[in-house]
Amino acid sequence: MYCRASDMQKERRLMQETINWLSILVRWGHVIAAITWIGTSFYFNWFDLRVRPTQDPVTKENNRGTIHEMHGGSFYYHEQYWPDRDHPRTLAHSGPAQFTFLSGLALLALLYWASASIYLLDASVLNVSPVTGVLISVLLLAIIWPVYYALVRTIRSERIFSLCFAAVVLLLCFVCVHLFSARGAFIQVGAMLGTVMALSVHFVIVPNHIKMRRQIQQGQPLDISLGERAKRVSTHNNYITLPVILAMLSTHFSAVTGSALNWLVLFLLMSAGTLLRHWRNVQFKTDRSDHRLLLAAAALIALGIGLTRIPSSPGSMPAGAVASSEQIHQIVQNRCVTCHSATPSSPLFSSAPLGFRLDTLAQIEASAPLIMARAVNSKEMPPGNLTQMTDEERAQLGAWLQSHQ
Ligand code: HEC
Repeated sequence: MYCRASDMQKERRLMQETINWLSILVRWGHVIAAITWIGTSFYFNWFDLRVRPTQDPVTKENNRGTIHEMHGGSFYYHEQYWPDRDHPRTLAHSGPAQFTFLSGLALLALLYWASASIYLLDASVLNVSPVTGVLISVLLLAIIWPVYYALVRTIRSERIFSLCFAAVVLLLCFVCVHLFSARGAFIQVGAMLGTVMALSVHFVIVPNHIKMRRQIQQGQPLDISLGERAKRVSTHNNYITLPVILAMLSTHFSAVTGSALNWLVLFLLMSAGTLLRHWRNVQFKTDRSDHRLLLAAAALIALGIGLTRIPSSPGSMPAGAVASSEQIHQIVQNRCVTCHSATPSSPLFSSAPLGFRLDTLAQIEASAPLIMARAVNSKEMPPGNLTQMTDEERAQLGAWLQSHQ
């Protein structure tokens, strides 16, 4: 009996280590693909806005503009044109978008869906089973692109479209923090925006490229509206990039995820990202900088920072005496050390998460600011409150840490 139990434990650890390694490798690939995709998106967006008509002789038919560049010690010359005939070596750039999407989905599944009770859910926000939580996450991912594309198709004005889509994103931020753990919610919002971008490539940009190419190959006149439709969603992607990166990195910003109005702070910071993108794009197009956009972005960031000063209430702080060091050690032993130990007893971890250990009082004291941020000023730790830490314990821990700093 004893033997079987320890075999099972070994199996679990092996499984956990496999997931760890898979997530390291997939994350590596995901970031590389995302950088490549975003780099290409930024480059071509910049190109389209920077290209200027020329009086000089050109090599291609139906020339729309040219651009001269220098990079890495060489000079380059590009022409933008509508072709009359096919060039067999016309290269496309959809690979990184597809790989970013698939690797992102794999990461979501490996971490947030496979360990939903730790990463995705928080019973104090919504008490549902991991399976239900994952289904909600999948459902939201599945509906976001149809919603986005319905707006694209029905609203011609880019200004009105932007306002409507911003309203959708604001609603998503609000809904997600009321369905998932703060960290899960931010990643869910990022994943949904990333899904919009990737499915626009898959369902609009790539098919339109294929149709245009075919028209040229068959000697038919080129339907430029196909290119314009692809360009529209591609430009949206360019604007969504900065918000997505922010949401994806947000698990490192406990000051944001842990604040009371975290959904609004996330939205404000993402909006600032979009404004910064617009500021650059206007500059590329007009060769002049519109400082009002920069100021507006700075104002949104300042407002976001201001809102993070409102902490999510961890319960009433103790009126009386500070708990003794022994009591604090015991609280941390009971609530944290199942995971944050040199030898975690939790079957979910084979080593302390992020190498962060709280076995001794000295370690607890040395990590006071981190613990304050994650377990006192916010309730991010323990994840999903798996070890059922009480508000009173958080308050005691907070008071003790403050008196030992
Ligand atoms: C069920 C396992 C589990 C328990 C219990 C747990 N944590 Fe964590 N903790 C994690 C995981 C996983 C991470 C890494 C992911 C993250 O940052 O959210 C983490 C990260 C942290 C970090 C960030 C460390 C760094 O270097 O950035 C702090 C601080 C932290 N935990 C504090 C605590 C405290 C304090 C407790 C007890 C009140 C606690 N945790 C209980 C799983 C746990």
